[in-house]
Amino acid sequence: MANQLLEVKGLSVSVEDKEILHGVSLEIKKGETHVLMGPNGAGKSTLGYALMGNPRYEVTSGEVWFQGKMMNGETADKRAKDGMFLSFQNPLEVPGLLLSSYIRSAMEQRRRARVRLWEFRKELEKAMELLQMDRSYGDRDLNVGFSGGEKKKSEILQMLLLKPSLAILDETDSGLDVDAVRTVSKGVEEYQKDRKGGLLIITHSTRILESLEVDKTHIMVDGRIVKTGDASLVEQVNRSGFEQFLDQADKQSAYGEGMEHRDGKNICR
Ligand SMILES: Nc1ncnc2c1ncn2[C@@H]1O[C@H](COP(=O)(O)OP(=O)(O)OP(=O)(O)O)[C@@H](O)[C@H]1O
Ligand SMILES: [Mg+2]
Repeated sequence: MANQLLEVKGLSVSVEDKEILHGVSLEIKKGETHVLMGPNGAGKSTLGYALMGNPRYEVTSGEVWFQGKMMNGETADKRAKDGMFLSFQNPLEVPGLLLSSYIRSAMEQRRRARVRLWEFRKELEKAMELLQMDRSYGDRDLNVGFSGGEKKKSEILQMLLLKPSLAILDETDSGLDVDAVRTVSKGVEEYQKDRKGGLLIITHSTRILESLEVDKTHIMVDGRIVKTGDASLVEQVNRSGFEQFLDQADKQSAYGEGMEHRDGKNICR
């Protein structure tokens, strides 16, 4: 389908020989915003890493299709150049690499063309202004000595400049103060506004979602997507937690059942 962005079909993923994800299926269309929620240790970050092609996360079965191409076996670098972006739950510090140089080089790889310095500076300053980041951060080593919240802003800054086709945001809102959540949300809104790219937002909180339009919500428990619904599912989780979904995960696990993906919905077989 022309507007299909990401198609995950029955993905099982192991880390150090332990299976963490068991047959996860998910479809994101261009312009859609999906939310992934679930208890700690459910496998949400694992899904993010596996989609991004982190070699520590071994795909033991299933397929990942991105913009009509099969991604299994492709390197993280290739996936990034093709337009996948993962904002890490715990962004890494990279001494010796300036934030601005890193972003410019990533932009050049993504665009497969040189990005002129003045043009880059203009875009960088505009995005930094939106995120209320001081310009001096561009001349600091990537994330080195950044506070937790500043690291998250630096991830969103990268997203705004790289303009990925699919952005996976792994708890970008965690550890942010009230004002910073609003600022980061503005950045995400800016990315979402022309509805060109897709978003998969992994979160435990609803604050970042307040100003965003959510198309679908998925609940992951024990490495399985046990429920998919619309934005109202976020409210349901807020009200009653994840306990209501635990039985579903036990049932799927005990009977070896999985979710079948039909017409964009996860249906329990
Ligand atoms: N590199 C690894 N080595 C060993 N175990 C791992 C590794 N990565 C993930 N796991 C295990 O996989 C399970 C899922 O972890 P994951 O980080 O994906 O959970 P999560 O849903 O993102 O949780 P949280 O909400 O706390 O971020 C956990 O039990 C975790 O310990
Ligand atoms: Mg996580």
